[in-house]
Amino acid sequence: MTETQAAERIQELTRLINHYNFQYYQNALSEISDYEFDMLLEELMKLETEFPNLQAINSPTRRVGGTITKTFPTVYHTYPMLSLGNTYSEEELREFDNRVRKVLEGDFEYVCELKFDGVALSLTYENGELVRGVTRGDGTRGDDITANVRTIKNIPLHLQGKDFPEKMEVRGEVFIPFSVFDHLNKEREDIGEALLANPRNAASGTLKMQDSAVVAKRKLSCYVYSLLGEKLGFETHSETLEALKKWGFDVSQTYRKCNTIEEVLAYINEWESKRFELPIGTDGIVVKVNNFAQQEELGYTAKSPRWAIAYKYKAMNAATPLLGIKYQVGRTGAVTPVALLKPVQLAGTTVKRASLHNANEILRLDIHEGDTVFVEKGGEIIPKITGVDVSKRVPGSMAVAYIDHCPACGSELIRAEGEANFYCPNEDGCPPQIKGKLEHFISRKAMNIESLGEGKIELLFDRGLVRTPDMFYELTFEKLLGLEKVFEDEETGKTRKVSFREKTVENMLNAIEKSKEIPFDRVLFALGIRFVGNTVAQKLAAHFRNIDNLKQASLEELVSVPEIGDRIAFSVQHYFSKPEHLEMIEKLRAQGLQLELPEKAETGPTSDKLAPNTFVISGVFEQFSRDELQDLITRNGGKIVSSISKKLSYLVAGDKMGPSKLEKANSLGVKIISEQEFLKMIE
Ligand code: IVH
Repeated sequence: MTETQAAERIQELTRLINHYNFQYYQNALSEISDYEFDMLLEELMKLETEFPNLQAINSPTRRVGGTITKTFPTVYHTYPMLSLGNTYSEEELREFDNRVRKVLEGDFEYVCELKFDGVALSLTYENGELVRGVTRGDGTRGDDITANVRTIKNIPLHLQGKDFPEKMEVRGEVFIPFSVFDHLNKEREDIGEALLANPRNAASGTLKMQDSAVVAKRKLSCYVYSLLGEKLGFETHSETLEALKKWGFDVSQTYRKCNTIEEVLAYINEWESKRFELPIGTDGIVVKVNNFAQQEELGYTAKSPRWAIAYKYKAMNAATPLLGIKYQVGRTGAVTPVALLKPVQLAGTTVKRASLHNANEILRLDIHEGDTVFVEKGGEIIPKITGVDVSKRVPGSMAVAYIDHCPACGSELIRAEGEANFYCPNEDGCPPQIKGKLEHFISRKAMNIESLGEGKIELLFDRGLVRTPDMFYELTFEKLLGLEKVFEDEETGKTRKVSFREKTVENMLNAIEKSKEIPFDRVLFALGIRFVGNTVAQKLAAHFRNIDNLKQASLEELVSVPEIGDRIAFSVQHYFSKPEHLEMIEKLRAQGLQLELPEKAETGPTSDKLAPNTFVISGVFEQFSRDELQDLITRNGGKIVSSISKKLSYLVAGDKMGPSKLEKANSLGVKIISEQEFLKMIE
């Protein structure tokens, strides 16, 4: 394919992908299958790899991320990002309406919108292209997080239509849907990481991550709610919302024009309970005067506009007696307190338990034995305790004292400085930790030994057959056949029998054998090192290539990997400092597990021997693949370009190279070298 043909195809693919994306995210229409969509994206990625200078800054391939930002540059907002005045009652809202009516003569209209509980974001577009995404910061200046913003699927990188202003700023709210948030917290709990308090914190933390590929996986979303710029030609806010939608932005269709404060109140009432049906958090509504000229007339205070106000809903909560606190020990030894409550109805469900997050939370809430507590339910699955009804406190009751010994094995708990969680340090001897680690080892994202599901680990552990992961690989048909155990569910009292029949055992052994093919990064994740989730495991594996390099890595080396901070680095070093872990790893090696990534081009030293030369690679080579050659060139300071020109320094020619390329290079006087000659250059 020539460069011109590639450029044409890239343009067509970009158009198609943008179109399907728009239909999917803005109109909820799937015009093609996921597979077909992925194929288009893959074709585009391939072409862009082959012709790197043809990758547009807003190519849809940027959505998958991959840009590392060490520190985000600070930028000043063209228009300050103000906040809104808050009201909590009908009375206060009527006062707002009176103030507005006093200033404006004649008719006016409000627009009511939901107040999305996320993080404010400013987006700048020039000639229909997204050029910048900036956080609110202190309202005057924020962080430039453009690479991360490009991964948010419902933010257009390129606008639809033609009638958009040459330069404009769009503002909106970035959020994480509840389902994604719950999933994220489950993963964090699994690796011993403190839980995120709410989806807003999760969204805000994600936006500031260094690796945009990780951001892409977090499934952030954005609703936009305002348009700013010079001479935009719109008279009302609602017109801008419609225009924004037409250009491809996601504008929540929950807004409504209201002519009177009564209509505003009706909107508020309507959404008070309906908002819980939404997949995202909302904490109130925003009332805005619709007409821009009237907005100007009303003006601003130092902090907020006089033409808008927020009405905050009171959270849905209930009061109920605390029956006790259960301390759960996770596989990493982290102890999580869970409040056991007298069952109470809340937002349509019966609540019996609530998360207390950690010891600090118990102190902060100052919970006493037998207290009546307030439980609140947002959209998240787990309700939380928000306070204590002190008026109902039993006189003389004692403050809840956090346990100081492990409820499972009796070891004294420890807490590292600056950490919220207490830990049981008996990592290789505490039953819930051992079982938790084994469950984790076989889980789908780790070794995927599916047929070893619930109850089976318990049975294997009880019979002393498996205590460490290497022992899975020593199981035999004879050892397993006929084993049985009856389980009783703590809450329901129901019993369930697990028994190893012939077929079960066969499936188990097959799955165990098959797990020996699982790649190194997943084995690393499966080991269950604290704070090493699957993304971190991938990063470590890609950087260190095998377990021996990782085992020997210094702290400096570990923290030089993007997203790896001191905490993870210490935890990795701690893991490998234990002789029993090293011993187990040797057993896993002997049993044939993958403890290294497959060889790629030797990741030898880097140099600048080839700088500032440019290279085109063409044809098939003897010793290296094209990717490997490209890698060698860039690692030695050379630059890969896609087309032959007079300025090109070298054409590296392999077998089966097209004659037209050769001819072009010859006619332009470009140096043509063989694979061997090239290798000499970097010797
Ligand atoms: S309009 C002058 N509309 O609430 C501020 N804000 O307290 C104009 N927010 O920073 C903001 N949903 O992050 C507006 N429909 C909505 C909103 C909304 C959420 C957030 C936004 C803003 C904060 C103001």
